[in-house]
Amino acid sequence: MSERDGRAAESTAATNEADSNGAGALETDRELVGIVAVADNGVIGRDGDMPWHIPADLEHFKETTMDHPVIMGRVTYEGILEALGKPLPGRTTVVLTSRDLETPENAVAAAGLEPALEAAETAARDRHDDADRIFVAGGATVYGQFLPALDRLIVTEVHEEPAGDTTFPSWDRAAWNELARDERDGFAFVEYGRRARETGQQRR
Ligand SMILES: NC(=O)c1ccc[n+]([C@@H]2O[C@H](COP(=O)([O-])OP(=O)(O)OC[C@H]3O[C@@H](n4cnc5c(N)ncnc54)[C@H](OP(=O)(O)O)[C@@H]3O)[C@@H](O)[C@H]2O)c1
Repeated sequence: MSERDGRAAESTAATNEADSNGAGALETDRELVGIVAVADNGVIGRDGDMPWHIPADLEHFKETTMDHPVIMGRVTYEGILEALGKPLPGRTTVVLTSRDLETPENAVAAAGLEPALEAAETAARDRHDDADRIFVAGGATVYGQFLPALDRLIVTEVHEEPAGDTTFPSWDRAAWNELARDERDGFAFVEYGRRARETGQQRR
């Protein structure tokens, strides 16, 4: 992930995912979209970076997230700072951290899921022309916490099995519909939409 721009055991059900850490109760009227590049063996990262170089994926990430708030963990954020020397241009980065982090103008630190979502709401409204999507861009800890609340997953499926130290959390594929698949050479851009939650379990 840190390379992007310059450089996401099956649980039982979506509704159970939502119960597991409270993220299903996160409130936003905007679409909450996870975006991730994941290898066939589940690997998403190695040594703070991604274990592949796919320029078309970097461009895909940039185009998809441009002019939107993007929530990410502190480790992923620092990887981007290392690669770019600055946060993602044209977007507002909401950095999840327990630290007292100094951030430049287009980034903001948040100490938990709810403050992160609030910061993303404010950025969408005030800085991104009321953008209708908020992106969740990893890493593993952040995907894991937000997964129950996500409405959509934009996945670059990388047809490799690289060694790595970070993997996408297990997710219940039965709770998701494949909406689109664009197969390329060695990878595919895929979109998944969450199936309707059961009555009484809806997030909003
Ligand atoms: N392939 C992809 O699409 C993709 C996407 C993103 C990242 N990655 C890769 O994933 C790896 C990084 O992932 P990671 O899981 O190790 O780290 P991460 O999720 O990026 O960051 C973890 C940090 O986020 C903060 N955090 C997470 N949840 C929090 C919460 N609820 N409240 C407050 N702070 C919270 C904590 O920071 P503090 O320690 O500061 O409290 C925690 O140490 C890298 O290799 C990166 O390249 C890959």
